[in-house]
Amino acid sequence: MMTATKKRLKIVAAASFSLLLVVYLYRAISASTVGMPGGVGVVGRLSGPIEEEQQGQWPPTEDAIQRSLQNAYDAHNSLIKEQRAELQRTKEQLAQLEEQIRSLQTSTPRKYPKVKYLNYKNRKRILITGGAGFVGSHLVDDLMIQGHEVIVVDNFFTGRKRNVAHWLGHENFELIHHDIVNPLFIEIDEIYHLASPASPPHYMYNPVKTIKTNTMGTINVLGLAKRVMAKVLIASTSEVYGDPTVHPQPETYWGHVNPIGPRACYDEGKRVSETLSYAYAKQEKVQVRVARIFNTYGPRMHMNDGRVVSNFILQALRNETITVYGNGRQTRSFQYVSDLVDGMIALMASNYTQPVNLGNPVEQSIEEFAQIIKQLVGGPSPIKQTKAVEDDPQRRKPDITRARHYLKWEPKVPLERGLRQTISYFRNELARSDRFQESSNKYFDSPDLQRSRP
Ligand SMILES: NC(=O)c1ccc[n+]([C@@H]2O[C@H](COP(=O)([O-])OP(=O)(O)OC[C@H]3O[C@@H](n4cnc5c(N)ncnc54)[C@H](O)[C@@H]3O)[C@@H](O)[C@H]2O)c1
Repeated sequence: MMTATKKRLKIVAAASFSLLLVVYLYRAISASTVGMPGGVGVVGRLSGPIEEEQQGQWPPTEDAIQRSLQNAYDAHNSLIKEQRAELQRTKEQLAQLEEQIRSLQTSTPRKYPKVKYLNYKNRKRILITGGAGFVGSHLVDDLMIQGHEVIVVDNFFTGRKRNVAHWLGHENFELIHHDIVNPLFIEIDEIYHLASPASPPHYMYNPVKTIKTNTMGTINVLGLAKRVMAKVLIASTSEVYGDPTVHPQPETYWGHVNPIGPRACYDEGKRVSETLSYAYAKQEKVQVRVARIFNTYGPRMHMNDGRVVSNFILQALRNETITVYGNGRQTRSFQYVSDLVDGMIALMASNYTQPVNLGNPVEQSIEEFAQIIKQLVGGPSPIKQTKAVEDDPQRRKPDITRARHYLKWEPKVPLERGLRQTISYFRNELARSDRFQESSNKYFDSPDLQRSRP
């Protein structure tokens, strides 16, 4: 009997000891895992409230376990939130770094495009005013590749350094930030005078400055040409014909321009520019060439210049409505920029001194043009007519008999091929501006700036 009681007592003592050991071990493990990352930390957090609320009570009540579980769940969620925010921040930083690498790659090219070697007899020093603009930058490319020394003068009103960045640092290239309204002293053999805003929103933005650029700027250019005996090519425009009553427009047509309309600052500015050129030619024996340029399009044209090509392409790429001003029956003819550049270089090299139309005589109604762009971009954009624009010319088509005869020049690039190039340029530009947009509100501190902060 005695041995049986002893045996039971031994069993009870052993059981109590085991229970105490289990409780001790559980608490020891819980205490040591508080604050550890991941799931282990949760165990630690679970034990906290139980210990606080259930001091001395074991096992914990169901209520306490519920609360602890909820706390653990909340802690887990906030941890995930923090990690997601961290991931997002890292992604944004990565995108910014990628953009910085891209812009570094474009702004500091390791290799320049190949240029021909010309000996000193054939190599010319050529000044291009407005050379950082759309047409000017393509002209720079061609003349550089031919092996000439090219100096660009630009006030960057509508031009961009990026357009000529691939030549920066080249021994044959120089970029000068200068407003052509002010005189310029420089030694050169030829001048292509392109400095002037070309699109209506740009030239109407500051009409007085547009007139000054086309009058005082042209006087400065012609004065320089006179001093150094350089040949000058003036970039005039089909706008000198105004809203033409003759169709297609030959160079002998004097034009139909409203001298006080919204476009007059440009149209009349260019007409004075031509007048000045022939006055300097007659009086000062300056060799002048006058190119009357018709609508030109291509890569590097301004995204928001408000003209029909950029408007339609952007609207189509953004799946917006393609807006046709007026009834869409007004016509335009569009030349690709490389054709224009070929024509300008041929005109400069020629002995022909009268104005020459440079444009593509293939004529399209604006309505047809909208259809072509819609089809090439391939989006769902509807085409809608809207209010006509004041003084918008009804018909525009160059007569290029002179250019064909004297320059042996005519446009080569078909509309569809040129438009595909231009659409692809605009698509890339849109993607680029979207990338910038995404990161536009975020800054990277330089290490120095960070150190200077408290
Ligand atoms: N693109 C066309 O369809 C078209 C048609 C007819 C005539 N043109 C003529 O061709 C020339 C080039 O046109 P674009 O389309 O390349 O235009 P653009 O606006 O891209 O280029 C003009 C350049 O001239 C610069 N500029 C403007 N004012 C200046 C000033 N006061 N001093 C120095 N630089 C100045 C601008 O910053 C810009 O780089 C212009 O003279 C324009 O009138 C162009």
